[in-house]
Amino acid sequence: MHSFPRRAITKEKPYRINFVCLGNICRSPTAEGVFQHLVMEDGLEEYFEIDSAGTGSWHVGNPANSKSQDIANQHGIRLLSRARQALASDLEYFDLTVAMDHSNAADLQAMAVKDEHEEKIVLLRDFDTDPGDGAVPDPYYGGMDGFKNVFDIVYRSCRALLDTLKTDVIR
Ligand code: 4NP
Repeated sequence: MHSFPRRAITKEKPYRINFVCLGNICRSPTAEGVFQHLVMEDGLEEYFEIDSAGTGSWHVGNPANSKSQDIANQHGIRLLSRARQALASDLEYFDLTVAMDHSNAADLQAMAVKDEHEEKIVLLRDFDTDPGDGAVPDPYYGGMDGFKNVFDIVYRSCRALLDTLKTDVIR
């Protein structure tokens, strides 16, 4: 697994995670909603602060794509976020920035002004037990199968990410 910033996670200093894709309407809102759901299932909501963003600005203010919402809803998960564009200052604020694909990661790396910021950028599939080519494929121009595939990848990877971070939680 890729190394990433670890620290003690407490109620006083929750771990801040930002999931990032291109539009912030398909993949990263799914990751935000799934990770939040898993955190709540594990009773850890006071220990994590979760957000998402897009490197592009086309969809700012929009809710998640209806296909992304439908699949999440089928799994009892609601996607409530509105799209926002990723900011350079996000790399300072968040402990970890989780990119959906290599292009998102490269765009984020270009926003980093400190080595410390670059070290905070990882790929979601760095945590996947079945990482494929390392990317969560962009489902935007495809059909329902692509969105289902995204949900499965995101769910599996978020579960593994949370299992790793849980070992840093000090209750
Ligand atoms: P996302 O999907 O990055 O998973 O939110 C996309 C959404 C919109 C566009 C591309 C990808 N777009 O080109 O508008």
